[in-house]
Amino acid sequence: MSLQTEYLSMDLRSPLVAAPSPLTKSLDHLRKMEDAGIGAVVLYSLFQEQIEYGSSEVDHFLDSNGGAYENLREKEDWPESGKDGPEEYLEYLRAAKEALEVPVIASLNGRSLSSWVLLARNMEQAGADGLELNVYSVPGDPALTGEKMERNLFDIVRAVRSNTKLPLVVKMSPYFSSPANVAFRLVEEGADGLVLFNRFYQPDIDLEDLSVEPNILLSTSHSSRLALRWIALLSGRLDTFLAASGGVLTGGDAAKMILAGADVTQLCSTLLRNGLGEIRKVEKELLEWMEKLGFASVEAMRSSLSQIHLDEPELFERAQYMRGLKTYDPLQEYRKP
Ligand SMILES: Cc1cc2nc3c(=O)[nH]c(=O)nc-3n(C[C@H](O)[C@H](O)[C@H](O)COP(=O)(O)O)c2cc1C
Repeated sequence: MSLQTEYLSMDLRSPLVAAPSPLTKSLDHLRKMEDAGIGAVVLYSLFQEQIEYGSSEVDHFLDSNGGAYENLREKEDWPESGKDGPEEYLEYLRAAKEALEVPVIASLNGRSLSSWVLLARNMEQAGADGLELNVYSVPGDPALTGEKMERNLFDIVRAVRSNTKLPLVVKMSPYFSSPANVAFRLVEEGADGLVLFNRFYQPDIDLEDLSVEPNILLSTSHSSRLALRWIALLSGRLDTFLAASGGVLTGGDAAKMILAGADVTQLCSTLLRNGLGEIRKVEKELLEWMEKLGFASVEAMRSSLSQIHLDEPELFERAQYMRGLKTYDPLQEYRKP
């Protein structure tokens, strides 16, 4: 059975890709991921603020979790910060390229247009195989229109596109009035791939301390439903590569994303929770599903359940919604063993 897939016009041995996270911040981890069979890695994001203030977003994540990741830090010999500035990032990117055979995709989160362009160019020169644009912005200003938000996003993609030849991926937000239209226009602006979706961290309130807690919750498989729907809707309708991100924890989750039309699926929470050995387990489960469903290759499996086969996907969505509500059994929870 063949796991081979094409992503950003590169041949990958497997559709399982390491998502940007603190785990892609160490060469040792990257090597272990490659040994475990990962198809490609996306490095953690370089944030423009890290250049300006030298702060470590990742350590902020870690500290704000009250040490919740301490076990993992020990388990995986997690590195301390120190690769935060642009020079360090580019040096790390070069080292990762040298150390690995699988493609290495850099990730960038800028603020000003000039920083997006400058850093993207630097990443290209450092040898990145691709660039993921982590466009993360929470529009809290009531005067900011959806139209302006979209324009800002397209401006970034257009500027980076016209200044680099790197395969370009946009890790997009699901929060648009019409995500499908935004995806379509991103491809028009030159995105070679889309990651569906960027995950927007939702702060909590600590009642004891009366403080805002930006603590990160890791995903469950349920979170995969969001990307699953939109990949199924967009697959075959856009001339771009699709990467699923969010809630891919098992080989079954990955199989569903591929059936919906994903070219690759990114893994994050499951690796943070269970360690890098999980890559082998997810691959084994995916192969078992392929065998059970009678698919000899990922290529044969891809898009089998995408909505490209439907004349009117909107009607299908509506019918599924109505069916879901009508067939829900209120007593099903009580019957569970
Ligand atoms: C601790 C942590 C750090 C992350 N850092 C980044 C990052 O630097 N850049 C980025 O684009 N996404 C980052 N992410 C988001 C993940 O790449 C991924 O999109 C998200 O966790 C959803 O996937 P999952 O459900 O498999 O966890 C981070 C996630 C976590 C939990």
